[in-house]
Amino acid sequence: MKEVLPEALSDTSELPAYATPEDVVADLAPDYPIFCVRPHAIARAARVFLEKFPGDTLYAVKCNPMPHMLDSLYKAGIRHFDTASLSEIALVSQLFPESICYFMHPVKARDAIREAHQRYGVRHHVVDHADELKKISEVIPARKDVVILVRLAVHHQAVVYDLSTKFGTSVDAALSLLAEIDRLGFSAGLCFHVGSQCLDAEAYAVGMQSVRDVIERSTVPLECIDVGGGFPGRYLNHRVDDLASYIGAIVEATRGLDLPESSRLFCEPGRGLSEGGESLIAQVQLRKGSAIYLNDGIYGSMNEEQTGLRRPYRMVATRSFSEETTGFTVYGPTCDSVDVLPDPVALPADIREGDWIEFGGMGAYGAACRTAFNGFFPDTFVQVENEFVSDTQPED
Ligand SMILES: Cc1ncc(COP(=O)(O)O)c(C=O)c1O
Repeated sequence: MKEVLPEALSDTSELPAYATPEDVVADLAPDYPIFCVRPHAIARAARVFLEKFPGDTLYAVKCNPMPHMLDSLYKAGIRHFDTASLSEIALVSQLFPESICYFMHPVKARDAIREAHQRYGVRHHVVDHADELKKISEVIPARKDVVILVRLAVHHQAVVYDLSTKFGTSVDAALSLLAEIDRLGFSAGLCFHVGSQCLDAEAYAVGMQSVRDVIERSTVPLECIDVGGGFPGRYLNHRVDDLASYIGAIVEATRGLDLPESSRLFCEPGRGLSEGGESLIAQVQLRKGSAIYLNDGIYGSMNEEQTGLRRPYRMVATRSFSEETTGFTVYGPTCDSVDVLPDPVALPADIREGDWIEFGGMGAYGAACRTAFNGFFPDTFVQVENEFVSDTQPED
């Protein structure tokens, strides 16, 4: 068995390259999980945003901060990055000195605000509360080249994560914040996030309606409107329209907005850019009747499965499998009993120890959310050329 060393690779071309996951398995016979990076799929998603979104596309780094993901996106033309922490800003600035970082977290430490401004030249910050605005104004100079965006709360039932339970403000409070931003001498903007894994593009129209409500009642000029992330990935239990239709819905919702000529539109996709860019090969370590134990799970790269989200999968074709399928309970490698996929997974009835399963949709919140609990930490990355094609189709 050959090990591929888990290193912080900064360039996709440095990843060991294979044609298919089958080749990876034939070469490495891995009993550890392996991420298969597909730079062509990342570039394809980037192209959709760069060609169709009528503004700046900011990649939400939190979704997958691995250098190879950032590198693939940068090579595809992404130059703007939504960063939530000073370490994300430092990472992006170090890798791509020409890029622009936006500090889009509504709650920031004073030192982080100062460092971001002074050391990394960050000029965009988000607030959703008067005290955060006060904090920023005490730390960095109130100048017109610094843009403070006010985050509006947007609730829509068709999202997997409603981010507005934690962040975002009402239209009335946004009006006061904008007035104060202007009075202090900063430039102003508005933003919202419809929620992650948004299953209905209509949510953006709801967010945009709040933007309109603010614009109608405010005299503060707006430098930018940021429609956030939320663009969905492709999972087995979510039938969604393609990214282009989501962008189309946003374009439609922005029609007729009364904005200054110089005003820009931003979006901040994380999942929408990265989801299809990685899969994960996991191995069956033991079968007990209709239960299997894999070498990755909830504490590793399958954290999101806890929300009920089901990633597509296929058997790695190392042998011929029975056409008959059985619903298997799928456990992860740790000693914790919550380390189990919430729903049974239909797999070949003759699956056995040593077989490999490839899970798709791992580019988003996979590697980013893994832990080293129990000493299991999936950290091996290779590059593959083929397309990921699931054995199973999305359900209606
Ligand atoms: C401020 C902000 N922008 C963008 C994103 C990315 O969201 P998504 O991955 O749903 O596109 C998030 C996710 O939490 C976020 O909090």
